[in-house]
Amino acid sequence: LPADRGSNTEIEDRSETGMAKEALIAPSILSADFARFGEEVRAIDEAGCDWVHVDVMDGHFVPNITFGAPVIKAIRNRTDAFFDCHLMIAPADLYLAAFAEAGCDGLTVHAEAGPHLDRSLQTIRNLGKKAGVSLNPATPESAIEYVLDRLDLILLMTVNPGFGGQAFIPAVVEKVRRVRALIGDRPIRIEIDGGVTPETAPLVAAAGADVLVAGAAVFKGGSVEAYRANIEAIRSAADAARA
Ligand code: DX5
Ligand code: ZN
Repeated sequence: LPADRGSNTEIEDRSETGMAKEALIAPSILSADFARFGEEVRAIDEAGCDWVHVDVMDGHFVPNITFGAPVIKAIRNRTDAFFDCHLMIAPADLYLAAFAEAGCDGLTVHAEAGPHLDRSLQTIRNLGKKAGVSLNPATPESAIEYVLDRLDLILLMTVNPGFGGQAFIPAVVEKVRRVRALIGDRPIRIEIDGGVTPETAPLVAAAGADVLVAGAAVFKGGSVEAYRANIEAIRSAADAARA
């Protein structure tokens, strides 16, 4: 795999404008066929994904349950791509070491999931992982104003977390602009999660997003060829809007 694609464990690939050069595509394996989980991870790798987005849900912070660290560990060897772990769990701190140990490269916690966001972010960096924070659609960007220097990634939810295949919430596009201004020239990526398609990707890409998660829009068609076409459609729509 080319250095700037699948084997991307380097999060800071940036131009002079502060934004990363190309939008990265992170398929969410929440939409994979769980009976063929390892093969599905292999398939998106072969299809040219940049990162693998791994959605962990606890049935408490969000109204759905997915999988935990042992399952992530089992699929980790199917690709060299950056494992972008989105923790929709509360509390998160107790489990960060286990997800690091399972082979995640980045750990993202929700600002709404606990009272000590600063501590959670310090823990992630102390584990040697990239630190991310996620904001639900209704959470203002002021929630992260005082932790910017502890962040590698800001994940802005464009659906209410819990399920794949939901409709994109357009009000978040303005938040993407505000977060882009807030981070200034810090090497922090802005990732978008929820309802990303070739139609919605340009809206967030133009506003300053540089990593796009997509579940339903990638995992349709059921073959490497279909996944490749789906990834390319999102990537080219985003890159055209960023140009
Ligand atoms: C939602 C998850 C998302 C989800 C996105 O709670 O965090 O990553 O898989 O799925 P789509 O792209 O189908 O909206
Ligand atoms: Zn997610």
